[in-house]
Amino acid sequence: MAGYFNELNDNEKTERPSALVDETNKSDDMKKNLKFLNQKFDSIIKKRRQEIENSPLDKPLSNDMLTSVIIANTPRDINYDRNVNDRSMRSMRYLEIRGIIFDGIVAGTDTTANTISYIIYYLVHNPDIKKKMMDEIDKVFRDDKTRPITENDIHNLKYCEAIVKEVSRIFPVLNTFRRSLEKPEGLAGYQWPANTSIRVSIDAIHYNSEYWDEPEKFNPDRWMVENSFITFGGGLRICPGRKLAMIELVCLMVLIFRKYEIDLANKEAPLKTVSSVMTICTELLVEIRLRNKIFV
Ligand code: HEM
Repeated sequence: MAGYFNELNDNEKTERPSALVDETNKSDDMKKNLKFLNQKFDSIIKKRRQEIENSPLDKPLSNDMLTSVIIANTPRDINYDRNVNDRSMRSMRYLEIRGIIFDGIVAGTDTTANTISYIIYYLVHNPDIKKKMMDEIDKVFRDDKTRPITENDIHNLKYCEAIVKEVSRIFPVLNTFRRSLEKPEGLAGYQWPANTSIRVSIDAIHYNSEYWDEPEKFNPDRWMVENSFITFGGGLRICPGRKLAMIELVCLMVLIFRKYEIDLANKEAPLKTVSSVMTICTELLVEIRLRNKIFV
């Protein structure tokens, strides 16, 4: 971003927020890093495209995200319909593929990685809830600690899903998201001019007692009935990775807890985080043991 602003001429720069116009060398570093990343992505995408082209049409391909975007709207896509001649049905251009993979990695890695840390922290501090979750996992998987998780399993893991949602409500990894006013608006009792940048506070909404019973209480049961939150934003720009994130997190919980017993190394220690737009877990020391539950 800073690299982009450095390329603007002075007149253009004056129209931008000064925080984004770099006076140091940071934006040069950013440009260099971006170039490095793009080169890496380029070679990975090129290699995978080649592999796909070289494999016979009837040979099933793996279900990874890169393969899916490369083959979308091509004869290898199971939803491909050669009779539909619509612009929206064209296959993806190279830069679109790179953009999607880039966004997925940038927006989809730290968010889920930090959320699983908060899930572990809250479970260790709430043994009754953890027990209820273990009962659900054991009911679905019995004593099988290795079988792949199916779509049907995910539908049967409603309490695990409720835990992900409740942790995301009480300790959201992203604290705000942004909107810009297209025209003057009245908001919260004030008049705001067009182009005002608004930051929506996820925390403030998730702790508002007008909307939540006992908002300070960690209570996954509030998600066993229809409910909603703004962890993933809302409207047209809502997080496109939200379903993937939920599946990833529920699967991670199963993979960890059906096989291992997890404890915090120091249960009294406060959760170590740093916050800006995102709340990052800087350290979570855990003890891991193999579970040896015997099923009868
Ligand atoms: C716990 C996990 C995640 C959380 C809490 C989260 C949260 C959010 C939030 C709050 C936004 C802003 C939405 C808005 O402005 O209304 C967002 C945007 C976005 N997220 Fe996620 N996200 C998560 C995981 C993911 C994953 C796994 C991916 C992709 C693989 C992803 C891709 C994106 C992208 C591309 C945007 C920008 C969308 C746009 O600007 O139109 N996110 N996310």
